[in-house]
Amino acid sequence: MNDAFRLSPESASNLAGPFEHLFITLCVITLIITLGIAATIVYYSVRYRRRHPGDIGVATGDHRWMEYTWTVIPLVVFLIIFVWSTVQYVNMSRPPANAMIIQVVGKQWMWKLQHPSGRKEIDELHVPLGIPVKLQMTSQDVIHSFYIPAFRIKQDVVPGRYSEEWFTATKLGEYHLFCAEYCGTSHALMGGRVVVMTPGDYQKWAASGPLDERPEAAGARLFAQYGCISCHGQQAPSLYGIFGHEQVMDDGRRVVADEAYLRESILSPRAKIVAGFPPLMPSYQGQLSEEQIFDLIAYIKSIDTPLPPFPPPPRPLSPEVRP
Ligand code: CUA
Repeated sequence: MNDAFRLSPESASNLAGPFEHLFITLCVITLIITLGIAATIVYYSVRYRRRHPGDIGVATGDHRWMEYTWTVIPLVVFLIIFVWSTVQYVNMSRPPANAMIIQVVGKQWMWKLQHPSGRKEIDELHVPLGIPVKLQMTSQDVIHSFYIPAFRIKQDVVPGRYSEEWFTATKLGEYHLFCAEYCGTSHALMGGRVVVMTPGDYQKWAASGPLDERPEAAGARLFAQYGCISCHGQQAPSLYGIFGHEQVMDDGRRVVADEAYLRESILSPRAKIVAGFPPLMPSYQGQLSEEQIFDLIAYIKSIDTPLPPFPPPPRPLSPEVRP
């Protein structure tokens, strides 16, 4: 980490460069306008100052071209900024489909992270250079915010829902990691470091140390343990291949089965009922930790063979076919 004086943090991700250009442009435009207005005020104050006690100003003619100018030029400038920043915003909020997923849970006052290999860490984030990484984040208590200045990413982490941010690290090294939302007494201590490693070093790192089960494996175990397997594929919809695809609900709505939908369906199964199935599923609110929900979702994403039996039984369900 370079602790020498600098006006902005290092640029160590694919998002940092474009962000920096936009930010500098905004600063320069603001500076030009501020100085221009200040200079005009000073000049006019002197040029048109009151010279005698009885002076009265006189209108000197029609200067409508001035009004057109100061309307049209800012309009064009603002439209350029709008389009430019919208393009960046869209880019920042759309992780590439092949991004590596790291799970993040915020709590007072630490960040708990888990890698696809199963390795967990606290207040540190190790990432490979040049590989897109998506952070799938939630909080188990209050609102936190996951902030890596060198990557120019900052995103609120909210209890009860998922938020995400993504980046591709572009520079080896160590960077600051902060919580950027006041979350209680030790908020200022809630942070650590981000370590960008070569992909080879990352592989070694991720496969060593205190390894937990891989998320899909833990999810598969929970899926059996909580009895999910006894309904899904029979009187409940099969989960085979649903991830990322539209599902039709009983009220005709179409919902994409993404992480948020799966999470909601585990915790509040009656919020959205898949068409053709009875609302039988109990809520698992309070029974599963955020990490376990992540694991279940990882498992559902990884299912590539139909759960037995498949296809689902005739509908509507009659009492005889219930086990
Ligand atoms: Cu968590 Cu501030």
